[in-house]
Amino acid sequence: KKRELILAFESSCDETSVAVIEDGNKILSNVVATQVKSHKRFGGVVPEVASRHHIEQVTLCLADAMEEAKVTYNDLSAVAVTYGPGLVGALLVGVASAKVVAYAHNLPLIPVNHMAGHIYAARFKSEIKFPAIALLVSGGHTELVYMARENSYQIIGETRDDAAGEAYDKIGRVLGLKYPAGKNIDEMAHEGADTFAFPRAMMKEENFDFSFSGLKSAFINTVHHAEQVNEKLNVNDLAASFQQSVVDVLVYKTERALNDFSVKQLILAGGVAANQGLRDGLDELIGKYSGIELLKAPLNLCGDNAAMIGAAGFVAWKNGESADLSLNADPSLEF
Ligand code: KG4
Ligand code: ZN
Repeated sequence: KKRELILAFESSCDETSVAVIEDGNKILSNVVATQVKSHKRFGGVVPEVASRHHIEQVTLCLADAMEEAKVTYNDLSAVAVTYGPGLVGALLVGVASAKVVAYAHNLPLIPVNHMAGHIYAARFKSEIKFPAIALLVSGGHTELVYMARENSYQIIGETRDDAAGEAYDKIGRVLGLKYPAGKNIDEMAHEGADTFAFPRAMMKEENFDFSFSGLKSAFINTVHHAEQVNEKLNVNDLAASFQQSVVDVLVYKTERALNDFSVKQLILAGGVAANQGLRDGLDELIGKYSGIELLKAPLNLCGDNAAMIGAAGFVAWKNGESADLSLNADPSLEF
């Protein structure tokens, strides 16, 4: 049986990545060039700087990914690419690159939603079984997605304001931490205790939506107040209290979704899926459900990468999806 190889591009934010994926679930290569260092001094991703880095990196990543996978363009079945959501200038670099390869080698071009990609990072752990619910938590999104079947995505709940990762990064700035602060705060949280009793938003609302801006404000007010009265706060306790509030809300709304929808799997994915507190919280939650399996994206594939785009692209391609050379970046793409 012929192996199906997908070449995938990801450039929606601050990582340039190119991967070669076999049969939708084996990574032959997954080259990631991160720009984090260039954005650190600005405390966040500067779109124009990101675009320029992508342009410099993408051909190098492509060459490395092909070499590492030990394949030629003739071996490929299709080219997959993230076309949204994300930064428009950044997305355009991946989209243009994928078009070039597809056109030059007469290969189908498969457009992939970045968030579908995040979900399919879990595919490298094990098979996805439907129906499923995905808790998608990243720097730009926080949403619960119902998947009735393969290649079908329905948002059932989402954040009304900040994404979870965005809240981590913003409070990280207040603590003087470098961008992105999520991992750092996660580590600090494990050295502290939940002593500050920060708010848990929207717990009483009968929906699957989230809100993190109130928590962020409560956190910032606490820190600023302490500065004014010259009181020294335990930063590990601050981190632990913030994290516990985020995890409590994410777990609670996920529990509501599991009670309302009959599913076989709960998938955890997105950059914040690397959070140890959240992983532990969902392990505990899933213990209450004998028939539902928790499928967590592998730690090394939670952040942005092209392997996950190749896995989602493989499924889209099998379902007959493709684009022509008029494909454009869509910065506010939704499911
Ligand atoms: O998915 P991702 O790599 O990029 C987007 O598509 O947004 O997610 C990046 C986000 C950042 O906000 C970062 O602070 C957060 O994921 N993050 C974490 C952890 N690791 C990364 N947040 C909490 N705990 C972590 N361990
Ligand atoms: Zn992402």
